[in-house]
Amino acid sequence: MNKPQHSVRINRRDFLKGVIGGIGSIIAFTYGVPMIIFLISPALRKQESDAWVPLGTLENIPIGIPTPFEFTRSSINGWERTGISYGVFAVRKDETNIRVFSNICTHLGCRVSWHEDLQHYVSPCHDGHFDLYGNNVSGPPPRPLDEYTTKVEDGILYILTPPFRRS
Ligand code: FES
Repeated sequence: MNKPQHSVRINRRDFLKGVIGGIGSIIAFTYGVPMIIFLISPALRKQESDAWVPLGTLENIPIGIPTPFEFTRSSINGWERTGISYGVFAVRKDETNIRVFSNICTHLGCRVSWHEDLQHYVSPCHDGHFDLYGNNVSGPPPRPLDEYTTKVEDGILYILTPPFRRS
């Protein structure tokens, strides 16, 4: 007895369509996925924000007088790279102890400067005052100046960015 035969016949056109469609999908996947990853990776990339920044030779910083330093760091936000300048005051208490403070006022972010006659850092915006060690003493600033962790290696003073907040 003969079994009924089921056969699916594909004509040449359908076969070629299938093959071309398959090859197209492979090419799209091969090039498309890496391209998408390449395009979105900056947005996913996390900026390395902790870094040791060298300020200079410890020996050149006088004891008891705030010494200003400036440096620039790059900030990456998605596809955008921005140079941000920072200002700090290094205060050397004695031969070995040194503290470094941000010059950004903790009220609304104006830059403070050291006033030798007053022995205060003064914020020019709303007359906020801070003492030698960055403690807020008068005016609207709600807390002391931010402070940096420091280390000295081979006579060079380094600070760790970003600074830490004090209360
Ligand atoms: S920004 Fe410094 S006192 Fe207002």
